[in-house]
Amino acid sequence: MIDYKKLAGEKINSLIPYQPGKPIKELERELGIKEAIKLASNENPLGVSEKVIKAVTEALHEMNRYPLGDAFYLRQELSHFLNVDPARIIFGTGSNEIIELAIRTFVKPGEHVMSYAPSFSVYGIIAQANGNSCKWIPTKERFKVDFEKLKDAIEDTTRIIFLANPNNPTGVYFNSDELTDFLNFVPKETIVMLDEAYIEYVDAADFPDSLKLIDKYPNVMTMRTFSKAYGLAGFRIGYAVGNIEGIDMLNRVRQPFNVNMVAQIAAIAAIEDKEFVRRSIKVNREGKVYLYKAFKELGLDYIETQANFILVNVGDGKKVFDNLLKEGVIVRFLGPALKEYVRVSIGTQEENQIFVNKLKKILSKG
Ligand SMILES: Cc1ncc(COP(=O)(O)O)c(C=O)c1O
Repeated sequence: MIDYKKLAGEKINSLIPYQPGKPIKELERELGIKEAIKLASNENPLGVSEKVIKAVTEALHEMNRYPLGDAFYLRQELSHFLNVDPARIIFGTGSNEIIELAIRTFVKPGEHVMSYAPSFSVYGIIAQANGNSCKWIPTKERFKVDFEKLKDAIEDTTRIIFLANPNNPTGVYFNSDELTDFLNFVPKETIVMLDEAYIEYVDAADFPDSLKLIDKYPNVMTMRTFSKAYGLAGFRIGYAVGNIEGIDMLNRVRQPFNVNMVAQIAAIAAIEDKEFVRRSIKVNREGKVYLYKAFKELGLDYIETQANFILVNVGDGKKVFDNLLKEGVIVRFLGPALKEYVRVSIGTQEENQIFVNKLKKILSKG
């Protein structure tokens, strides 16, 4: 008998896989209901832009061909949009792949990555899968990043620090002054990856302009995604912007055809459909105001968010999560470290109302 566990080794055996939000179809099948709603994975509730659908549909007949390995047209489009040198950009199958590429490229045996907790669990999963580990540094009151603790924790072997801004699952952000103070402290050979998956939703005036920092701090890279405000989560496409030499190293590890052609075409159309992104941001802002008000009326404490989801203290997170599921509403329970909370993605106004009504019903039953 072959012992696959032994072959994989201890690091893989002890790996706890990422838990995605439950798919709508699965819940509907389980409960035998229709019209379940999913507010669990911070997806865009407006669907896919019509312009994206048109561009992608037209391109389908060419899918016998390999994609452009260098994403030439998308690179041109994004470089104009962001006003950065095209050689500073790398694309991935979601920013998840960029996280993986960065760890595989730069984190050697005996080195580790670091982040603050709670944050995006994928940093730790990929580090562990690569034979490394993630040092999680606790946050301060109301989940604010504790930069002093992060500074104290940096070692010679800390190769990458992942800083989600705004953070997932809390929606909390750090400002420009906090970031520059930290970057002035971080050793040159520790890479700081700013994970800005939710940047389009940010309205804080003092939020860092990270792309401007890359010249001054060559160890900084910014990751972004088309999965959220651009509505392309299912296409799997994200990117990073960084120092040319750093990006070149990532490109050596990247598979030649990592981003499929449909995703590249979708992303070009999504950048061009500015109206869709504007509408997504507007719906999110209105949803945020509505949910804040509803939580206040219900006497629930919530964490102020700069993203498209809200962490709300419901007392017993698991129970409320389970009861919402039974009502056909999928939110996210985030495990024992956040046991009093659920995280709800901001949906359409109709979805938000359904969620609030079901939540009221559940809480009134105790
Ligand atoms: C903080 C953060 N980073 C990265 C991602 C990954 O996004 P994707 O791989 O879809 O680009 C997510 C997705 O939820 C996220 O919350």
